[in-house]
Amino acid sequence: MKEHPMIPAARPRFVEDIYTPDEQAVLFDIIRTRGPWRLIAAQHFSSAEEFLAVAGGRNHTRMSAPALSDFLTPTFRGYIGNYGTVLEQSAHDIYYSRRLLDMIKSMHGASYAVPNSFLFNLRAPAHSFDAGHFDSPSWRGMDKFNTPTWLLSVMAKSGLFDRWELRSGQVIAYYYDSDVDGGFTYWPEGPDAPPARYPAPFRNSGILTHNEKMFHRGEASGPRHMRSVPDLQLDSAIHGVGDSEWAICNGDEEIARYHDRHMRFLFHYGAFVFDDMAELRRYFEHTDDLDLDTAVAIFTDDLRGRGIRCPEPTDPLHDRDFVSVLNSAYAMAPAEYPAEAPLDVPNTA
Ligand SMILES: [Fe+2]
Repeated sequence: MKEHPMIPAARPRFVEDIYTPDEQAVLFDIIRTRGPWRLIAAQHFSSAEEFLAVAGGRNHTRMSAPALSDFLTPTFRGYIGNYGTVLEQSAHDIYYSRRLLDMIKSMHGASYAVPNSFLFNLRAPAHSFDAGHFDSPSWRGMDKFNTPTWLLSVMAKSGLFDRWELRSGQVIAYYYDSDVDGGFTYWPEGPDAPPARYPAPFRNSGILTHNEKMFHRGEASGPRHMRSVPDLQLDSAIHGVGDSEWAICNGDEEIARYHDRHMRFLFHYGAFVFDDMAELRRYFEHTDDLDLDTAVAIFTDDLRGRGIRCPEPTDPLHDRDFVSVLNSAYAMAPAEYPAEAPLDVPNTA
């Protein structure tokens, strides 16, 4: 029987002392001095439907008329590197770190690695409305630069496109010096099997992982009584104040301020890996790319084989009937949550 499509190449491996003291000084200096940083939700989603398609779990249809603002949490993001290019020059040697690339190669037994995105999240005390997600995967010819997130997500869940898969790995370093929640939940045997978790605290520790093929989520963090920011908006932003504080602002108006000790930070380093020169060339020379027409034909064949009627899409990237047939044909989401880290549901009453 074919393996479940959402099972990683290897279980996550816990890693300590991920960055040297010098590297940490460089990374935190970027976060502290180069802001303001915008909400993750503002960078990746334009509606509640888009959020729910990626991280909505099994029961979100119970909510009536959800709005994206219902799911906002004070979780902000910035990029240190992307597209194989370092964006913050002070982090040049970290982005091209042999150590990080070797770790990711080793997880796949691969010969070559190319840095992908290197980003950070900073999070004020927050609930976690993330019911479990996997990071946007890539295929040769189709990736986050030319394909909407909903389609990448369905392609991954279908398991129909492995031939074109661009394999990846991530090293995620966390900083959360508290044992009040704040862990990492993951579903290493697929979303129908029980989850596992790494509990906080984290001090420059985290995981080597294959998060494009594994459901996972960051848990709620920070003191429980501080976990909502009443005036948080889609365009709120955060910046460092002095040596140890962080201010969230709506335009010029400061709406909340936090000390370092209540924040949770992560650095998320990703790379693509290749087994050999032939595979590396196939990717960079585009000799075996997947395209949208081929992907649609593969989906319609598969659905027909399963006796599911599928409308012929005129505009497959946006045809709502097509989106909804695919979304339900390949639906999957985590079935259970750790007792220590239940799922938060927004209070929209
Ligand atoms: Fe993720």
